[in-house]
Amino acid sequence: MERLYLSKRGIEIEASPIRKLVPFAEEAKKRGIEVYHINIGQPDIPTPPFILDAMRAFSNPVLPYGPSQGLLELREAISEYFRRYGVEINPCEIFITTGGSEAIYFAFLTTMDAGDEVLIPEPYYTNYNGFANMAGVRIIPIPTDAAHGFHLPDEEVIEKLITPRTRAILICSPNNPTGTVYTEKEYERIKKIAEKHNLYIISDEVYREFIFNGTEPFSILKLDTEPERLIVIDSISKRFSACGARIGFIATKNRKILANVLKYGQARLCPPTIEQYGAIEGYKRLDEFLPEMIEEYKRRRDAAFEVIDKTPDIFALKPDGAFYAVLKLPIKDADHFARWLLSDFNVDGKTVMVAPARPFYRSENKGSDEVRIAYVLESHRMKEALQILVKGLYEYIKSGHRL
Ligand SMILES: Cc1ncc(COP(=O)(O)O)c(C=O)c1O
Repeated sequence: MERLYLSKRGIEIEASPIRKLVPFAEEAKKRGIEVYHINIGQPDIPTPPFILDAMRAFSNPVLPYGPSQGLLELREAISEYFRRYGVEINPCEIFITTGGSEAIYFAFLTTMDAGDEVLIPEPYYTNYNGFANMAGVRIIPIPTDAAHGFHLPDEEVIEKLITPRTRAILICSPNNPTGTVYTEKEYERIKKIAEKHNLYIISDEVYREFIFNGTEPFSILKLDTEPERLIVIDSISKRFSACGARIGFIATKNRKILANVLKYGQARLCPPTIEQYGAIEGYKRLDEFLPEMIEEYKRRRDAAFEVIDKTPDIFALKPDGAFYAVLKLPIKDADHFARWLLSDFNVDGKTVMVAPARPFYRSENKGSDEVRIAYVLESHRMKEALQILVKGLYEYIKSGHRL
């Protein structure tokens, strides 16, 4: 048969670094090795039972398509939720998506054309690359570094990256993968640049409450600027420990964007129906589980850093938020190291899976000596996972792999 055509887009999209080592983990498991998964933000904290109960209570004899923009009751519950942060957003300014992932995609599709550019502080959530590929959008990295806590550089550094094709700045705070929580000054800086160059601010706020340094949870919807400029990406995946529900949303006061999001939303018909009933319950009863959940992540972070801080060869800042950290290691190829941990190493039948950090960067030569960890396991397991990682690191170096 004549060779069938493959799209350039499909060839160029990168495999997720968070998931691409899964076959190596599966192989390790087949050999009887227990693998601690700290590669992915998949928490083991139980989904609050009343959220699952609300899903189970669905008794309609037909599971129908729902509205493209999501159930009104859920959008009302989210509108009410924002009020606790001093944000007034109408249910009709909220659009329910199939996870925060689809919200990112719709935001890209409605604010940019193919060839347009979005500025994103790097390292950044690597899946933005996939959505940029789908939308034909170019990601222009804003450099940040561990020495400055991955905080934003000065205005001039950011402004130099702006071209006539720049349409938006995408920020994520608390940040995946760095855990950095932006300060008021940083938000003001972004606002000033966006106003001066007429850009959208797309703010990925899926970790809004996951803060450990006392900073109050924030939304860009509070910024004193033209509301049309502001687009929030959000999700219940982490907040409700319900990653498989696939419920997220876009919140914006920009009616034109909402009208176009609706057209994309209609093309994919509707977000999951039953899970929206769970989400309604989650937003209504947030205070019954979220504060304790945040405390638990703080304990897990501290358990991980108990080990990291005692290891002089690992450079990492204790993150202020989310549940990730970027670890700089004294090795050349973290991708190789991550594979090696799964295929060649174990401590008493146990090993760890981490995400190589290189694909969290766009700039060349950055991140190849770094891994991202997610502190999503119970404290004692988290500590053990880090101890295994450290042992692995030294054995890897000893066996001549360092440079
Ligand atoms: C920063 C960030 N944005 C968006 C998402 C996507 O979340 P969802 O599960 O809602 O698609 C994630 C998931 O890890 C994330 O870390």
